[in-house]
Amino acid sequence: MSKALVVAIDGPVAAGKGTLARRLAAHLGLRHLDSGMIYRATAARLLSSGGNPEDGVAAEKAALALTAEDLARPNLRDQEIGGAASRIAALQPVRDALLAFQRAFAAEEPGAVIDGRDIGTVVCPDADVKLYVTAGLEERATRRFEELVSRGETANLDDITNEIAERDRRDMERAVAPLRQADDAVLVDTSELDADAAFEKAVEIVVKQLNARAKTSI
Ligand code: C5P
Repeated sequence: MSKALVVAIDGPVAAGKGTLARRLAAHLGLRHLDSGMIYRATAARLLSSGGNPEDGVAAEKAALALTAEDLARPNLRDQEIGGAASRIAALQPVRDALLAFQRAFAAEEPGAVIDGRDIGTVVCPDADVKLYVTAGLEERATRRFEELVSRGETANLDDITNEIAERDRRDMERAVAPLRQADDAVLVDTSELDADAAFEKAVEIVVKQLNARAKTSI
């Protein structure tokens, strides 16, 4: 029986996991899901209807009503949406509402690379390969700063550093599906790696893990 191949990539804000996940998916011939976009789309839907990210009932309603149009909203990458996303992501009913979509995406053949915060721990605990991608706060803030500047946006490094630290704290300390490295996830620290080096390292780990799995299942 064939089975969808799942690569789970978790890690904090701006660690480089999105770029890595996209490149790995293309390399392995798998589909890619940036699960953060689902939380961002839910937050954007809620905010656009005047809702408050602390209002659990309204946030759950937004998650249950999510549409393809919400996922195509142009402002999803905004800092404000990221902050609101991490607030509504701490609510169990919101996470429950978004879980089935993520699991169905993972189960579809030939499989998927999914990046987020709880993919290896909650969404796909049986993933074939798990990576935990991280980097120091300073490196992550600098990357985000340079990314914003290159897009022609005004940015302040101190503000970005504080915003990222606050989001890390919220994601790691929440009671529901907190961000943490799964016991069987391989750590990839990208502090000293550029995107190409991080990709090469990830490919090496994935190939090694898949070979080890193939040997144990013969
Ligand atoms: O990864 P990104 O910054 O786009 O995610 C936005 C927010 O969505 C995160 O700060 C986190 O709170 C939430 N999220 C989550 N679980 C995921 C993906 C994202 O809680 N699997």
